[in-house]
Amino acid sequence: SVVYLNGEYLRLGEARISVLDRGFIFGDGVYDVVPAYGRKPFRMGEHLARLQRSLKAIRIETGWSAGDWEDLVQGLLARSVLQDCTVYLHVTRGAAPREHSFPTQPVQPTIFGMVSSLSRPAAVNRERGLTAVSMDDERWLHCEIKSISLLGNVLAKQYATDAGADEVVQFRDGHLSEGSSCNLWVVKYGILRAPVRDRMILEGIRYAYLMELAAAAGIPFEARPISRLEVGQADELLLTSATREILPIIRLDGRPVGAGSPGPVYARLRADYDRAIA
Ligand code: PDD
Repeated sequence: SVVYLNGEYLRLGEARISVLDRGFIFGDGVYDVVPAYGRKPFRMGEHLARLQRSLKAIRIETGWSAGDWEDLVQGLLARSVLQDCTVYLHVTRGAAPREHSFPTQPVQPTIFGMVSSLSRPAAVNRERGLTAVSMDDERWLHCEIKSISLLGNVLAKQYATDAGADEVVQFRDGHLSEGSSCNLWVVKYGILRAPVRDRMILEGIRYAYLMELAAAAGIPFEARPISRLEVGQADELLLTSATREILPIIRLDGRPVGAGSPGPVYARLRADYDRAIA
């Protein structure tokens, strides 16, 4: 498949970066993942705006405008044969002698993009739901930045895998934060709730989107801190991400969530999401 690296479209096997790249050495970079259906990007403007925010947060200057990023996404999609796919965008501070502080000499950021196939969530996961285990959120305090330093997220996902579960439900100081690579939602008595969009979570592009879907469906929504007890007593527990769209979690730490099967708020939001990407 074709990838983009620093101004060129190349075959994946031809793409090369320096071992001194600060992404490789320090994880000094940011990324974003834009889903596309039938090769049409979904919510691209929002994803690209978030990428620009992440770049700004860690002070990487690419000189690229929103239009340049759009051209890259479209350029990658035009060169791909995949229909449902993700466009992965990745920017690092570039290659420089190993020194923690930013390079003093001007360095070109490394800009990389690739298209990967996106398998829509399997019917079994959509209809029966996922399992999760809870854990303390051990990541850093700037989770709002879509950093490529993902060790905390990797270890969290492996914790779920080792436990035979599909995902983790992380808590910071007793309050719900997010999954390893997804946002989390709870439903109680018909009210949809999510943690506040602060530095403890990545604001998914589906966060504002689900708020829109909920408003249109007449489902009340509230953003506020959510305690462990509230998660334990939830009627429904949902996750959202670019790759998993919206899915229900039906077991947490071996116990059923609510009735132990996907609930009505999930069913409604899932149907609306399916319609939007069709
Ligand atoms: N992950 N929280 C974290 C930590 C994430 O990594 C992601 C997305 C989300 C959901 O964001 P969005 O709705 O914009 O996909 C929340 C992507 C898919 C990834 O790392 O592959």
